[in-house]
Amino acid sequence: MRYALISDIHANLPALEAVLADIVRRPDVDTTYHLGDLVGYGPWPNETIARLRAAGIAGVAGNYDSTVATGYKHCGCRYEDARQEALSHLSFAWTLEHTSAEGKAFLRSLPFRIDLRPLGGHSGGPTVTLLHGNQVFNTVYVHEDRSDEFLAKMATAVGAKAGDVVGFGHTHKPWHRVVADVHFLNTGSVGRPKDGNPRAGYILLDVGTPDRVGVEIVRVTYDVEHAAKAIVASSLPDDFADYLRTGGGSMAIKGSEPLNASPL
Ligand SMILES: [Fe+2]
Repeated sequence: MRYALISDIHANLPALEAVLADIVRRPDVDTTYHLGDLVGYGPWPNETIARLRAAGIAGVAGNYDSTVATGYKHCGCRYEDARQEALSHLSFAWTLEHTSAEGKAFLRSLPFRIDLRPLGGHSGGPTVTLLHGNQVFNTVYVHEDRSDEFLAKMATAVGAKAGDVVGFGHTHKPWHRVVADVHFLNTGSVGRPKDGNPRAGYILLDVGTPDRVGVEIVRVTYDVEHAAKAIVASSLPDDFADYLRTGGGSMAIKGSEPLNASPL
């Protein structure tokens, strides 16, 4: 089975369209899942939800999805400083106001976690678990520099065994590590990368027999300026346009993320 895993689209429709077009060009992709954060920061929340529903792409609830769906007091996002906190609140208020009742109902319906059995539930093959943050909250950031001990404990808490895959997003920086023979992968972000690379990102995951796992981090060029200008034309903060242009602005760690992780 070859999966395309997309996450953290954040209402960036041009980025989503580019990623979906890139996936369609790969006839060997069997199915696509999203790992949450469909809305927030971008100007197309309803269009993004509608596009994923039309394409029949299932997935889990990100923190932005569940906080918008439930009208929570904030988005569950982390801020580096007071300016970011203020912008975060503006984004959340805008998204609450501009996401339709139907869209919120759909976000409310998203599951917290999905378990896949690529070789069939009747066999002892690997399980692929899809989350947004971690196995307890979709607001927990699982960064690449988490210790082996942290990830081993996470595997136990998830119920993952050797050869399994645990996939998540939320940090907007893609990575892949193997700890205790469990594959941990972060899908990065389709519509709001934070690694200094403005291109849209997603993951190709191969799960073969017996217990063979391959992970490829993919980046796709899209019309960033189209998205940036739509943000400026909206009542969203203009800072979000520059964030897209720079792949994370001053928060980005320039050049620290490899474009392609080696398949295992
Ligand atoms: Fe996100």
